[in-house]
Amino acid sequence: MRTIWHRLRPAPELIVPQKFNRNSHTVTSLMPAEDSGAWLLERMQRQIGLETLAASRLLDFGCVVRFSQAILNRRIPIGSYTGIDCFAEMIDFLRSAVRDPRFSCVILDARHPAYNPSGRPLSCETEFHFARMPLTSSRCFR
Ligand SMILES: C[S@@+](CC[C@H](N)C(=O)[O-])C[C@H]1O[C@@H](n2cnc3c(N)ncnc32)[C@H](O)[C@@H]1O
Repeated sequence: MRTIWHRLRPAPELIVPQKFNRNSHTVTSLMPAEDSGAWLLERMQRQIGLETLAASRLLDFGCVVRFSQAILNRRIPIGSYTGIDCFAEMIDFLRSAVRDPRFSCVILDARHPAYNPSGRPLSCETEFHFARMPLTSSRCFR
């Protein structure tokens, strides 16, 4: 039975078709995506010692939809959010569904053996055009 709280909650801003949910059943069976996303963001915020993410620029590599759902539907203050993923159809969906100027999404055709086996291998020469910043050796995560 739905509680009165659920009935009073504002309607979700971002409703995501099931086909764009790429988390495993072990994750999705625990709680709705926006709840686990909000929980993770809150933990991250505490971990780095911030009172709020209102002034933070969040880069979400391998993003899918979870953190967008959490930020928008739970009204979590954020400076900006950039989601990167190789799943082009999902990024197209986000671009059309999210009209919030703080949000941007990028398709990156980077290789992953399971998710994107035909993609290009990431290297220190990979350029992130959206950031106008090549991942040069000094910035390369090894
Ligand atoms: C298990 S999902 C996790 C989604 C999200 N981080 C979350 O916590 O809900 C992994 C996502 O990473 C993306 N991904 C995996 N390898 C990638 C790569 N090399 N480049 C870009 N995206 C990648 C996949 O397309 C997939 O959507």
